[in-house]
Amino acid sequence: MTKKKLNVAVLPGDGIGPEVVGEAVKVLQAFSDANDDVQLAFAWHKGGAGHYRDTGVVLDDEVFDACAAADAILFGAAGYYDVRLPDGTEVEGALVFRLRFNLNLYAGVRPIKYYEGINTPVKPEIIEGTDYVLIRESTEGLYASWGAGARVRDELVSDNCIITRAGTTRVTDFAFKLAQQRQQKNLVTCVDKSNVLPSYAFFRKVFDDVASTYPDMNKNYLYVDAAALELVLHPNKFDVIVTENMFGDILSDLMAATIGGMGLAPSGDIGENHGLFQPAHGTAPNIMGQNIANPIATILSAKLMLEWLASKHTDSSAALLKGANAIDAAVEGLLRDGDTKTPDLGGKAGTTDVGDVVAAFVTDAFRHATA
Ligand code: IPM
Ligand code: MN
Repeated sequence: MTKKKLNVAVLPGDGIGPEVVGEAVKVLQAFSDANDDVQLAFAWHKGGAGHYRDTGVVLDDEVFDACAAADAILFGAAGYYDVRLPDGTEVEGALVFRLRFNLNLYAGVRPIKYYEGINTPVKPEIIEGTDYVLIRESTEGLYASWGAGARVRDELVSDNCIITRAGTTRVTDFAFKLAQQRQQKNLVTCVDKSNVLPSYAFFRKVFDDVASTYPDMNKNYLYVDAAALELVLHPNKFDVIVTENMFGDILSDLMAATIGGMGLAPSGDIGENHGLFQPAHGTAPNIMGQNIANPIATILSAKLMLEWLASKHTDSSAALLKGANAIDAAVEGLLRDGDTKTPDLGGKAGTTDVGDVVAAFVTDAFRHATA
């Protein structure tokens, strides 16, 4: 039987990007080898701050085109603090915003799930049961001013927060559909700052318009400052959150801290036709090249990739979902049992050890089922 072939464009990027992406590909390769239905083919590409330093280009047009043509994109992280574009910003926008904006990856999916065995900064009784997803609008909001905005000589710079009805409708709709699928609390929380800025009041108004088309679902609202408080004090009250681009960027780091750090926080940037999957963390140059970076955020992003591919390729969805579930079970077991944790989680394991354990578990999950 011939397997369905799916092409994955791999962009490891800078810093710890190549190390953590290497482990996620190891896990995906194990899935590809072990299952009977889907074959993943990986094409590796350059891009990021190192590439900019070498060539003067952050992301080559051919690489952008390869990402656009692929069935999914796996990305590590990009940027170094001391590698800057002429406008004073770091290079990562030229990579990740270019892909998000130009491939219409409007839904930044950032799941936050508490795994047993993690020593979290938030008390166990508070964090237990936490399992929610923040949907970050990823094509407009304040970051729409990336590469735009107004500049007057060396005297004035201004960025605008762009909220459109179309953009807010599609991301809110995505959030309600996700809450429906999850069948947990059937709740979507709108996070905004509508008490102060008309653009956020408009975001909430459009949110309400979309919510009215989901009469069986619950909705509520939080101002972003109050959301920062609630996400720490009552994280297990949330189900799905939808918010503006920059608010989502900031809150997603705070959320990751509550469950044990950026090393555990995956993300997917999803549009109608394309999906990009990356850890929510950055390049962490201070720990690069030492085999100590935690690859779990990237491995869980690979799991999101399989879930998203399953929704697109329904003929192969059983195998893809089984792969995704195996990855999640592997991560859950690894964190609970505790021997194979990287130093950020208080362990002594290497980046590659974590990938080895998860890959072996995934291989096993398929072997047992077919035996
Ligand atoms: C993220 C990152 C990016 C963002 C950077 C690297 C451009 O922080 O994905 O959260 O701001 O969106
Ligand atoms: Mn961020």
